[in-house]
Amino acid sequence: MVAAHDFPELKNDLLLRAARGEVTERAPVWVMRQAGRYLPEFRKVRESHGFFEICRTPSLACEITLQPIRRYSGLIDAAIIFSDILVVPQAMGLEVIMNPGPHFPDPLNTPEDVHTKLHKVVDVEMELGYVYEAITLTRKKLNGEVPLIGFVGAPWTLFAYMIEGGGSKTLQKSKSWLYMYPSESKDLLHRIAEVCVEFLVGQATAGAQFLQVFDSWAGELSPHDFAEFSLPSLEYIAREVRRRLRDQGLPIVPLTLFPKGANTSLERIAQRSGYDVIGLDWCIELSVAREIAGPNVALQGNLDPNVLYGGKEAIEREVKRMCEGFKGGRETRAWIANLGHGITPGVDPEDLRFFFECVHKYSATYP
Ligand code: CP3
Repeated sequence: MVAAHDFPELKNDLLLRAARGEVTERAPVWVMRQAGRYLPEFRKVRESHGFFEICRTPSLACEITLQPIRRYSGLIDAAIIFSDILVVPQAMGLEVIMNPGPHFPDPLNTPEDVHTKLHKVVDVEMELGYVYEAITLTRKKLNGEVPLIGFVGAPWTLFAYMIEGGGSKTLQKSKSWLYMYPSESKDLLHRIAEVCVEFLVGQATAGAQFLQVFDSWAGELSPHDFAEFSLPSLEYIAREVRRRLRDQGLPIVPLTLFPKGANTSLERIAQRSGYDVIGLDWCIELSVAREIAGPNVALQGNLDPNVLYGGKEAIEREVKRMCEGFKGGRETRAWIANLGHGITPGVDPEDLRFFFECVHKYSATYP
């Protein structure tokens, strides 16, 4: 494990201050999937390299992570390491290919498969050390311009991919597991959570300054099932990552949870899950979310990514509306502007630039 790096001094700490609950002079802003197919410079690299090949090659992952930082220099407040949530199922022993969406040729069909298809012990550093290398390299190359975000998929979302074998509209197979094999499902969720904890601690050790857990399929569960099957592993991750960082004498980096679609569980998430920042999708108003979440967490989000297809007038109007949703009591304003889900491939990069400019303009009206 690489440790105690000598990284360049951070010049823009807006994201980290907002994540710790501070009211900032304007909202920090970044977008999920900011290094992706909407960027011609990304598509250029993809012409000659496979998706997971890029993930596994630190110099390429670093280059792609830096693409939006260069293009939007001065407008964007964080870099997110180029990788994918599905590197964890790979590390656990499953094959995953991108064609063009994710596909598992041999997914988990029954609980017996957990014993035959997954590694008994996962050596996270051996399997995913390439992500740590990419993070350390990127921290150096960023030269302190903005903080670097590390991430992991939530156990429930990864469980669903590992059983469905790819994307799914109904999650019929993975949900059947929850009802047919509740105890085996919890065992598998916990196994995934253990890998997530180690991977997040490794990313922080390698230089990640903010960690995000993507529970992209949280909203597919009923509030009861979310509390039963997803929340316990999310709580475990937050608690264990903090404990291990503390035990190793490492800085405790802010932890963010993006429980997409789980807005009816927001109160429970904000009160119990142990995350510093809660990411929101666009299906809840920010002022309402703040009311429900209370003053002790920062919020992140939540513009519908499709607003970026609406032209400049719509972008400006909707960003202004979003920013106004945050003008509550002064102590409750810690907010990181973002989309409510990842940016999609058809967006014009100049429209994303305009989104950033509007966030700078309208979130800076705090007294
Ligand atoms: O945010 C970033 O810029 C960092 C990189 C990042 C990627 N995926 C790159 C990627 C991150 C944080 C992810 C997370 C991820 N991956 C999630 C959680 C967030 C979400 O969108 O809900 C999920 C569910 C995945 C799984 C995944 N990977 C899917 C469903 C797909 C295909 C469809 C799609 O949205 O692109 C991917 C592929 C993927 N991951 C691409 C990128 C840039 C495009 C693949 C390509 O280049 O061909």
